[in-house]
Amino acid sequence: MSERSFVMVKPDGVAAGLTGEIIGRIERRGFTIVGLKTAVMARSAAEEHYGEHREKPFFGELVEFITSGPVVMLAVEGPKGAIAALRAMMGTTNPLDAAPGTIRGDYALEVGQNIIHGSDGEESAARELGLHFPEH
Ligand code: RTP
Ligand code: MG
Repeated sequence: MSERSFVMVKPDGVAAGLTGEIIGRIERRGFTIVGLKTAVMARSAAEEHYGEHREKPFFGELVEFITSGPVVMLAVEGPKGAIAALRAMMGTTNPLDAAPGTIRGDYALEVGQNIIHGSDGEESAARELGLHFPEH
């Protein structure tokens, strides 16, 4: 049984030159990268991607940020449990709380600029992969 997640190096991660480091960590863990592309996310795609947060006070800022520069989008495959394992590698949403050794715990300090996105469950993974990798 395999599982796929949608992972994205956010504009701050790309600008900081952390794309290779992040992809390297994912590869060295043993995951398979089955999709990879760079793009500036369209506003409409960003609003759909973060649709669950539409009513939150930070939604506007979130969309502005995620469309502010190129991102690197990845479709990542591993065994069942891969989605949760990738979330564990990312660290908590607020990097100040993230454990050292996690990506956010090693490279970020601000909740609004936390370097990496990963799907938070099977349903969101399927939705996000369909949105950003419709060709797959
Ligand atoms: P992501 O979706 O980006 O992978 O992050 P996440 O699952 O860890 O966190 P989520 O709750 O989905 O929030 C999405 C992004 O919104 C920003 N945020 N800002 N100002 C705030 O209180 C606040 N809370 C969340 C973060 O950048 C978070 O990654
Ligand atoms: Mg999320």
